[in-house]
Amino acid sequence: MKEYEVECIRCGARYSKADVVYTCRKCGGLLDIKYDYSEVDVERIVKAQGEGVWKYRELLPFDDGTKPITIHEGNTPLYRCDRLAKAIGVADLWVKHEGLNPSGSFKDRGMTVGVTKAVELSVKGVACASTGNTSASLAIFAAKAGFPCYVLLPKGKVALGKVAQAMMHGAQVFSLRGNFDDALRVVRVLCEEESLYLLNSVNPYRLEGQKTIAFEVAEKLGWEAPYRLILPVGNAGNISAIFKGFLELKTLGITDAIPRMTGIQAAGAKPIVNAFKEDKAEITPEEKPETIASAIRIGNPVNAAKALVAIRESGGVAESVTDEEITKAQLELARLEGVGVEPASAASIAGLKKLVEMGAIERDERIVCITTGHLLKDPERVIEICEPPKEVEADVNMLRKMLK
Ligand code: F0G
Repeated sequence: MKEYEVECIRCGARYSKADVVYTCRKCGGLLDIKYDYSEVDVERIVKAQGEGVWKYRELLPFDDGTKPITIHEGNTPLYRCDRLAKAIGVADLWVKHEGLNPSGSFKDRGMTVGVTKAVELSVKGVACASTGNTSASLAIFAAKAGFPCYVLLPKGKVALGKVAQAMMHGAQVFSLRGNFDDALRVVRVLCEEESLYLLNSVNPYRLEGQKTIAFEVAEKLGWEAPYRLILPVGNAGNISAIFKGFLELKTLGITDAIPRMTGIQAAGAKPIVNAFKEDKAEITPEEKPETIASAIRIGNPVNAAKALVAIRESGGVAESVTDEEITKAQLELARLEGVGVEPASAASIAGLKKLVEMGAIERDERIVCITTGHLLKDPERVIEICEPPKEVEADVNMLRKMLK
């Protein structure tokens, strides 16, 4: 197999694959999995059979003999969205619906790799903080692998479907008095002190799974990168992972470009947008993030440094959208394209609309939006924004009068 090391993006310190390490012990920087790309077999990527995350195992940090913990994640559809494109006024729009992963979000891609690594390391249990989807996914993979699973959720701030999943699949669920950033701070200490394996996106193995979104997009487009990729940004792992995926394809000569990575945050939780616009290398954390898009209600994104590099080096942009814009986009995507997504996911569409109106996106660009989570994750929001069902007698004439 190809060899790899775990490298600090800030000071270059290196760690072995047997190390349980999440951030650099020398400088606190974020870590990246580094391969020797001269050893990678390009044919094994472009001619790979099968489907989903493990199809691309040539670019995953495991021996060929490793048996993955998998629930058949990945291989999500890339829809061509002409009706929505027309409404927005662009020519070439695609939506990759990550909500159609087995747990209903893209997190499964990271968890199949992260939990397979946990097995390799023989850890005694796994844990995460979460705005919901991470916990749902981790609970499923932990169940599959037979690990005890501990999840910390910000009290009263997690959509119903996600809590239900974590509970059903047997995680110990804690409702933490505080927000997501508090939960992440606490779980990081807990994992160090109790030797639990941390599976938030600060864990670089998670991002190795998530980068396969880039591989699938490029492959579906005939091994070509789209001009632009737009996605919601919370803890900023996914944008960093997808950028890494496209970078690897380009490094290997499989594609010849990298999409402009375009990150969208909610107006009430936009530290990365602020840093981007103010041309700063570091974010200023927001104490009280607020948005109806609970998945991305995050004030201190742990992967901000990677995300800012991804956006800047790819020539992308970061923009924010209001809750109202998110809701409008959620309804439009559902009603024009039949794609049902949770609010955070609709931020990508809302961001596209806003950037087109601002003139920051050309109308003829090939654009791929990532919708990260399924509609049914957050049924309570649906009830808030849609007209409720009308009660009616079992009588055709009465019913007919009520038809619009
Ligand atoms: N969309 C959805 C549906 C999410 O659940 C998340 C993150 C994001 C977008 C943002 O992705 O953090 O990689 O920038 N959810 C995490 C969680 C934080 O705990 O489920 P990111």
